[in-house]
Amino acid sequence: MSIEFNASACTWTLSGGSTSYVLHRDKQDRLLHLYWGKRLAADALRWDPRDYSSFASFDLPVSILPHELPVCGSGWYGTPAVGIRGADGSEVTDLQVISSEISAGKPPLPGLPATYTEKSSEAQTLSFLLCDKATGLMVTAQYSVFESSGAITRSLILKNGGTSALTVTSLMSASVPFWRNDLDAVHLHGAWARERNIVRTPVAPGELRISSARGASGHESNPFLALCEHNTDEHSGCVWSVSFVYSGSFEILCRADNFGHLRLSAGMNPDVFSWRLEPGETLVSPEAVLVFSGSGFNGMSQLYHALYRERLARGCWRDRSRPVLINNWEGTYFDFDEQRLLSIAENAAEIGVELFVLDDGWFGKRNSDNCSLGDWTVNLSKLPAGLSGLSAKIHDMGLLFGLWFEPEMISPDSDLYRSHPDWCLHVDGRPRTEARQQLILDLTRPEVQEYVISAISAVLSSARIDYVKWDMNRNMTEAYSVSLPPERKKETQHRYMLGLYHILETITSAYPDLLFESCSGGGGRFDPGMLFYMPQTWTSDDTDAVERLKLQYGTSLVYPASAMGAHVSAVPNHQTGRITSLKMRGDVALAGNFGFELDLSKLSVNELAEAKEIVARVKHLRNLTRTGTFHRLLSPFEGQHTAWSFVSPDRKTVLLCVYQALSIPNCAPLRIRLCGLLPDAWYEAADGSRFNGAALMQQGFTVFLRGDFSSEVFLLQAL
Ligand code: GLA
Repeated sequence: MSIEFNASACTWTLSGGSTSYVLHRDKQDRLLHLYWGKRLAADALRWDPRDYSSFASFDLPVSILPHELPVCGSGWYGTPAVGIRGADGSEVTDLQVISSEISAGKPPLPGLPATYTEKSSEAQTLSFLLCDKATGLMVTAQYSVFESSGAITRSLILKNGGTSALTVTSLMSASVPFWRNDLDAVHLHGAWARERNIVRTPVAPGELRISSARGASGHESNPFLALCEHNTDEHSGCVWSVSFVYSGSFEILCRADNFGHLRLSAGMNPDVFSWRLEPGETLVSPEAVLVFSGSGFNGMSQLYHALYRERLARGCWRDRSRPVLINNWEGTYFDFDEQRLLSIAENAAEIGVELFVLDDGWFGKRNSDNCSLGDWTVNLSKLPAGLSGLSAKIHDMGLLFGLWFEPEMISPDSDLYRSHPDWCLHVDGRPRTEARQQLILDLTRPEVQEYVISAISAVLSSARIDYVKWDMNRNMTEAYSVSLPPERKKETQHRYMLGLYHILETITSAYPDLLFESCSGGGGRFDPGMLFYMPQTWTSDDTDAVERLKLQYGTSLVYPASAMGAHVSAVPNHQTGRITSLKMRGDVALAGNFGFELDLSKLSVNELAEAKEIVARVKHLRNLTRTGTFHRLLSPFEGQHTAWSFVSPDRKTVLLCVYQALSIPNCAPLRIRLCGLLPDAWYEAADGSRFNGAALMQQGFTVFLRGDFSSEVFLLQAL
C-alpha cells in the first residue's frame, strides 16, 4: 500500500519506489512534516515533541516547528505556503486540519497541467482539508505518491468559505522542511542560446531564490531545484528535488534558518502574483513534483524522465518515435519562396528525412521580424499555391508537413492590431514596450483566447498539416490586462497562463494526431507545464554541437531525451562561428529528437551521402534513445569530455556517446565506466570485440578520440 495511516501516532506514511514521506497531525490539529527520504516502514517514525522542546529562546515554538503548510502572522517568519489578506487588511492565517482522506489514483488539476495515472493502482492520493476559522478560508492539500517511483506531487486548492473577499498573497505548492543544512543546492541557470547550465553551490544561512517574473519560466532559470549531500555525485548520494509544473513566473526558495534547519518551497512568484477570492470562489495551485534519489543525480533524473515521458506527456506521439525533420529557419530565414522550399524538401526526401517544417515568414507580409504576428493568413506572393498546395507537393515527395506559429503575439504592424489595439497586455497611459517589434496578446480575455483558437484552427484545417512548432519570442512587460479591475490587476500573469493552457488544451484535443513542439526563443519555456500539452520542446536557438553538449547535458537533469529537439545546422555555426564536423553534429543531435536546420543544397555530394548515413543511423537508434535509461557519464561542465549512454529497458542494448571539445596532447585514453548493464552478460561492439558487463561497469570501456570537436558513438549488444 502506498499510503498508510497510523491512527495511534496520527501519522501518514507515503511510500513508493525507494522513498517515503511522513506527515503528522498534532494535538493542536497542525499538519507537521516528519520525514522525506529513503523508504521507511510505515510505523518507523513518530512525532517526538522533545525535538522541539529544548529551545529556550526568544523564538516561539511555532517559528521552529516543521510545518507542512506554514502560515504567517502568529510567529512564523519564513515564506508562508498560504498567505491571505483578509477584508480588514490584516495577513494573519491559522490553518487547522479538519479531515483527511485517502483515495486510489490521482485526480486531475482543473485547468492546469499535471502528471496523471492511467490505472488507479499507479498512485494513491492523500487529501487534507484545513480551515482558517477567522476568515473561512478552506485549503485542500493534495498529495499523490506514485507507486513505482516514489515521486510525490503536491497541490493546494483554496476556497473562500467565508462571507468577505480575501486576497491570496502567497501560494507555495510545496514547502518542505529539512532538519539539516549541510547540503548543496543545484539548479539550472542560463540565458538565450545558453540555457540550463548546471550550477551547484553549498547552502549557506539565508536564502537562495530561483525565480522568474518574466511571464514565462524563462531562459534564465528553470522551475527546478535540488538539494544534495556534499559528496553526492551522478551515481551515489542523496538528492531531494522539486520540479514545478508551470510555464509562467515562479519562485523556488531554499531558506536556511538560524537553527540549522532548511526549507525548500516552490510556487507562485509573489512579485507578480496575487489573487482575489470572492466568497465561494476557488483557486488551484500548479503542481509541484518532489523526487528523492538515494543513488545520485542519475537516479533522480531517471525518475523524472520516466514520469515526464510516460505520465506527463500525452497524446499519440507520447509513445511513438518522432520523425526526422528538416526545418528551414537557419537554412533560409525569411528569404524563401515555394521553389526554394521545394528544393530543400527534395534533397531532404533523398536522404531519408520524414518531415519538412516551414518556420517563420509564411504569413501576412512578414519578410522580417517586424510585422504580421496575429495575421495568420498565408502570404500568396511567396507561396502562390497556398499552404494546401505546398503541403500537397511536400506530401507527394513522401514527407510530412509542419508549420511554425507564434500565436500568443501581436505585431503593432498587423491587421489584427489595427482592428484591436487594446488586445495586447498594456497599461493605459504608458508606452507599450516592444521586444522584437512585437507585443503580447492579452490571453486573460476570453475573446482573445477565442480569436487565437479560431485563427490557428482555420490554418490547421486549411491544409494537410502534421506538425506544429508553437513559439513565444519575448517576455512580458506592462503585464496587466485592461479588462481587470485594480484589485485584480496582479492576477494578469496567472490568468494569462490559464488562458494559454485553455487554448493549448482546446487545440491539441481538436487535432490529436498532430505532433506539437513548443519553443520560446529556443529553450525559454522548457518546462513540465508545456510538456503536458506538447511532448517535445526546441532545446535552444544555439545549434553549435559543442555548446549543445552542455545544453543537452544540463537539460537532462530533469527532462528526457524524448523532450529535446536537436538539429544539425550549417558551419560556421550561426551562433558561435565554430566549425565542427558533420559527424560530430550528427552524434550530438542523435541524442534528442533529431533534425536538420540548414540548406541541404549547399552540402557537397560526399556530405549528402554522409547525412544520409546519419539519418539511417538515427532511425535505427531512435527507439533506444527515446525509451532507454539515460546515464550521464562525463560532464562537459568539468572538462573537455562529455559522455552519456542510453540503456534499453531489458539492459541488453547500450548506446555510448563520447565527445571531445578541445583535444589534450599526450593524454591517456578515456576509460568510461558504464552503468545499468547486466553484470553477467557479454556485450559485442560493432567491430566484433566482446566485453563482460561487470567489467564494463567496474573497469570501463576504452575510448580514443583525436582532434578538436571529435566524437564516437558505440552500440553494444548483449550476446
Ligand atoms: C525563435 C525560434 C527559432 C525560430 C525563430 C523564428 O527564435 O527559437 O527557432 O523559429 O523564432 O522567428
